[in-house]
Amino acid sequence: MTSWLTTILLAGFTVTHETRMPEVPVPVPEVPVDASADVVRGAWLYRVAACVGCHSPPFAEAKHLGGGRDLPTQFGTFYAPNISPDPTVGIGGWSEQDFTRALRDGVSPSGRRYWPTFPYMTYTNMTDADIHALWAYVSTQPTVHTEEKPHEIRPRYRTPGLLGLWRSLEFRRGPMEPDPSQSDGWNRGRYLALGVTYCDQCHTPRNNLGLLERGRFMAGGTNPGKSAVHPNLTSDPTYGLSDWTRDGLAQFLATGDKPDGSRADPDYIMAEKIHDSYAWLSEADREAIAEYVFALPPVAYDPETGTGARHAQGSR
Ligand code: HEC
Ligand code: HEC
Repeated sequence: MTSWLTTILLAGFTVTHETRMPEVPVPVPEVPVDASADVVRGAWLYRVAACVGCHSPPFAEAKHLGGGRDLPTQFGTFYAPNISPDPTVGIGGWSEQDFTRALRDGVSPSGRRYWPTFPYMTYTNMTDADIHALWAYVSTQPTVHTEEKPHEIRPRYRTPGLLGLWRSLEFRRGPMEPDPSQSDGWNRGRYLALGVTYCDQCHTPRNNLGLLERGRFMAGGTNPGKSAVHPNLTSDPTYGLSDWTRDGLAQFLATGDKPDGSRADPDYIMAEKIHDSYAWLSEADREAIAEYVFALPPVAYDPETGTGARHAQGSR
């Protein structure tokens, strides 16, 4: 078995961006001043959890919550669906329970397992309160009607067993439990990194089955056949962020400016994520992510060549 899962997971996140640059600001309306606290929080989560990039993508023809972002992989092309309250093409007929199940379990109201191009392996970690806030926001947004775009999955991959296999090996149902032995900042940072912004899904190498290599957690990854290398975020002196500071990382997540004076490459998805998602994090949240990242054990792994040591413990 080759790395079909790798391709689904990584290509889902990165390929589009290499071929299609953000053209316009995302079509997200301002939140009215009299909105409830849940709606305000949900609007913010919709940004920082990157829902925006797939369901309100930065393309001229895109509509807020209308989906349509194309996510090409070697298995075919997936399309982010309409998640506006439209009753036919959107999720207008859904209950909050249906929505919670989609994010927490990766399962549709009719029981269909979602493809992991929808990063529910991350969102499953969210708190009930955050999923509720997302629902409060999404379910009260204007309805948009878009053309339904069915995924174009190549015939030989239309095997339901593949998803079941992936889930049994990789999917760990949340929510994420805080680690009482760690600081509040570290716990907040881990929650944001692994439950909201999915840094780990791009910045961890994958094995031949496309599963995250837990022993090389956050040591960088590649997108097979594509040019994007996801850098090693551990403190390894050769391959990691050893010449960065926590402040420098927090600053990078706000602006895309790197400590060496260069910028996030606009050809790669990190620049889009910063612009449309991470720049919306509070300063305290960016610092928390930096605290968590800087506490990662060093892993001497070179994502450019895919070689290097494995950490005995793994991490999470
Ligand atoms: C990388 C792109 C991507 C991101 C980021 C993303 N989604 Fe999706 N989403 C998808 C795709 C693709 C599907 C369809 C999966 C399938 O059909 O198996 C989907 C499906 C869904 C569904 C089910 C819709 C239906 O009609 O069954 C919901 C609800 C949803 N996403 C909400 C969200 C929310 C909320 C966020 C942010 C917390 C989010 N998505 C982030 C790509 C994405
Ligand atoms: C969708 C994939 C994706 C996600 C999610 C993602 N990154 Fe990245 N990241 C990349 C890519 C691709 C690059 C390389 C592009 C560049 O450096 O301009 C990168 C570059 C970086 C760099 C620059 C490192 C260097 O040595 O230049 C840092 C730091 C970083 N990411 C941290 C993070 C953190 C922290 C998160 C989560 C908050 C995160 N990334 C989420 C894909 C991703």
